[in-house]
Amino acid sequence: MAIQLQVNGKSHNVDIEPQTPLLYALRNDCDINSAKYGCGAGQCGSCTVIVNGNAIRSCITPVSAISGNVTTLENYQNDPVLKALNKAFIAEQAAQCGYCIAGMMMSAKSLLDKNKNPSDNQIKSALNGNLCRCGTYSRILKAVKLAVKELA
Ligand code: FES
Repeated sequence: MAIQLQVNGKSHNVDIEPQTPLLYALRNDCDINSAKYGCGAGQCGSCTVIVNGNAIRSCITPVSAISGNVTTLENYQNDPVLKALNKAFIAEQAAQCGYCIAGMMMSAKSLLDKNKNPSDNQIKSALNGNLCRCGTYSRILKAVKLAVKELA
């Protein structure tokens, strides 16, 4: 079935079954590599992207459920919040293996788009569903806080 997906402002015509997870369409048909397959069950957050302002798990969201633009980390140069997060994550050396980082940044962007000055607890709560097996959580928290300062 032909489905049109809007990803980072660009249209993609994708020939795909409607129940196919968005993650597969992004990676296989839309040249998106930042969203990662981790658990495939909505539990780890590595596949997180933003649709209509909300961070969603693309591994458990069928393409047929998507209406509106999908934002991924590939758009960071055009997005002030993602750009600040990218710079801050590098400055704080927040990535170890880096597998989870795009998902972390998308959840953080979703938070910062709604709340320009979140508390530590609000940041922790927003990133609660994003798991990092390397355990760089304290650096990730510092990086989000640095991005908040940068955006102030
Ligand atoms: Fe989607 Fe783990 S791969 S939440």
